[in-house]
This record gives sequence, C-alpha cells and structure tokens, in this order.
Amino acid sequence: MSSFLVCYGTGEGQTARIADRIVDALGERGHDATAVDADEVPTDLDVGDYDAVLVGSSIHAGKHQSEVVDFVTANREALAERPTAFFQVSMSSATEEGAAQAAGYVEEFLEDTGWHPDRIAQFGGALRFSEFGFLKRLLVRQVVKRSMPDVDTSEDVEFTDWQAVDDFANDVAAFVEGRLGVAAPDGGASGADGQSE
Ligand SMILES: Cc1cc2nc3c(=O)[nH]c(=O)nc-3n(C[C@H](O)[C@H](O)[C@H](O)COP(=O)(O)O)c2cc1C
Repeated sequence: MSSFLVCYGTGEGQTARIADRIVDALGERGHDATAVDADEVPTDLDVGDYDAVLVGSSIHAGKHQSEVVDFVTANREALAERPTAFFQVSMSSATEEGAAQAAGYVEEFLEDTGWHPDRIAQFGGALRFSEFGFLKRLLVRQVVKRSMPDVDTSEDVEFTDWQAVDDFANDVAAFVEGRLGVAAPDGGASGADGQSE
C-alpha cells in the first residue's frame, strides 16, 4: 500500500468531486488516499509524508485556482522528489475545439510553477446553472451559447468523463507502483490510456 495526497482547488465543486472519485479509485486498488482542499490545507500537512501526490485545479476566467498555484509553488521541492500527477478541469476540455485552449492552460501552469508532473490529465467540467447567482448565470450562459451552441443552457450540464477519471487514477497508481517497486496491493489491473499523457 502506498499513501497518496490529492490536493485540489475548486470554485463550484466539480474538481472536488473528481478528487473524491480519484481517492475512491486509489482506495479500491488498495492504496491509502486523502483529498485536501487547497483552500483549507492543514498547517501541519507535510507533502513529505506521502509516497505520491496528485494536484487538481479547475479553470475560471482563464486561470487556475490561485491556492493551487500557491500550493505547488510552496511545495515544489517535495513534489520533485516523489511521483506526481496533475489534473485540470475546464469547459475547454469538453469539446475538441477547446483542446488547444485547455492544453495552453496546462502549459502556462507548469511554466508558472516550474513543476514537472509525471502524469497529466484534462477533464471536462460541469456547469450547474441552478447553483449560480443571477449575474453569473447570465454571463456563463452567454459564453456557453457562443462557444457551445448545441448545449442546452436551460439546465445543469456535466461534461466529466468519469471513466477517463477512473482510468487516470489507475494509470497514476500503476506508475507509482512501478516507480516505488510495490505491487498493486489488491493485484489490481494497471491503468488504461484515458486522457492522461
Ligand atoms: C465563472 C466561470 C468562469 C469559467 N471560465 C472558464 C474559462 O475561462 N475556461 C474554461 O475552459 N472553462 C471555464 N469555466 C468552466 C469551469 O472550468 C468548469 O465549470 C469547471 O467544472 C469548474 O470546476 P470547479 O467547480 O471545480 O471550479 C468557467 C466556469 C465558470 C462558472
């Protein structure tokens, strides 16, 4: 069994849901995984206590969650010393047309933080219009109508490919098991391609 930290930054909760799903997938494989909101990192949390670290962030207005940038920057040395993975959540990853934009966000993040994760995944997010305030709902609906005219903005939409999330978690686990020279605790199957790079 290896210990995994999954640190995430979220605006409306979709990245938290994805982090929880990754924790579940790692747990099913027999590992000990803990999710931590980058906005509420316990003061005594030590990245050095974990065998491997995953970091996730959503995109809002072209930017990653600032607390995630801060977390990676503050822990860059510890991250460099262990297997790591990054996952990004955005609307750009929900369409083929947005793929270049999503890849650009990743590139900018890695450049800004100087971090070199071993695995990277990009997932489509969700838009829960029913949970937005009036102005935000109006603005986001306008953006979606322009960029994704086929999407019905009268109801909440989710674009996350949960199979791809599971595949990513298993791929990262298989990589960590190989790197640390440990067998999958439950003898679980090694990861599929998913959207990981
Ligand atoms: C106010 C707002 C701004 C957003 N800006 C972008 C953006 O610039 N680019 C993008 O690809 N997705 C954008 N999105 C889509 C989010 O990345 C997507 O909704 C994601 O699921 C949010 O994850 P979170 O709930 O973990 O914050 C935006 C969403 C909202 C609500």
